[in-house]
Amino acid sequence: MSEGILLSRLERGTLLPPAVRVARLREALPQLRAAVADEIDEIALEATLACLLWETLVQTNWCGFYRRVAERELAVGPYQGGMGCLRIAFDRGVCGACARTGTVQLVSDVHAFPGHIACDDATRSELVLPVFDPAGRLMAVLDLDCPEVSGFCQEEADLLQGLLQEVFGTLRG
Ligand code: SME
Repeated sequence: MSEGILLSRLERGTLLPPAVRVARLREALPQLRAAVADEIDEIALEATLACLLWETLVQTNWCGFYRRVAERELAVGPYQGGMGCLRIAFDRGVCGACARTGTVQLVSDVHAFPGHIACDDATRSELVLPVFDPAGRLMAVLDLDCPEVSGFCQEEADLLQGLLQEVFGTLRG
């Protein structure tokens, strides 16, 4: 039985300095790994990570997955936050750019990102990471949104990319 994550309680929307955010994420990572250890169902993994990353990354106003449901289309998956767009084509928005290129998109100000999809007008920065299956095929993206500019840093991106590779890149079954 899981009881969430053991971290200091912070008010949602708090944007900590980057070094403090990184330390908090580092503290959460072993707990995240333990929470999903041995699970092999994609939705169960995504739902649990969305829930626990939401608790960890308190700067986010949206935290969750878009799953690849066609060659060049994503559909919303498990998430926390306000209602997100249901479908995103690979040629649209930050999530589409991530899915299309298979690369991390760290956008410090979405107003400067051509084609950004404003599901929530409040969002000012985003971090979107590709999720690959064991064959190296893109299966989803992890979308993290923040209502302030520069809500994410490269080190958070690197740590999260490592987690995603560990959890989904080794999926059995
Ligand atoms: N902002 C994203 C769309 C997804 S939502 O905001 C939840 C984008 O531009 O890809």
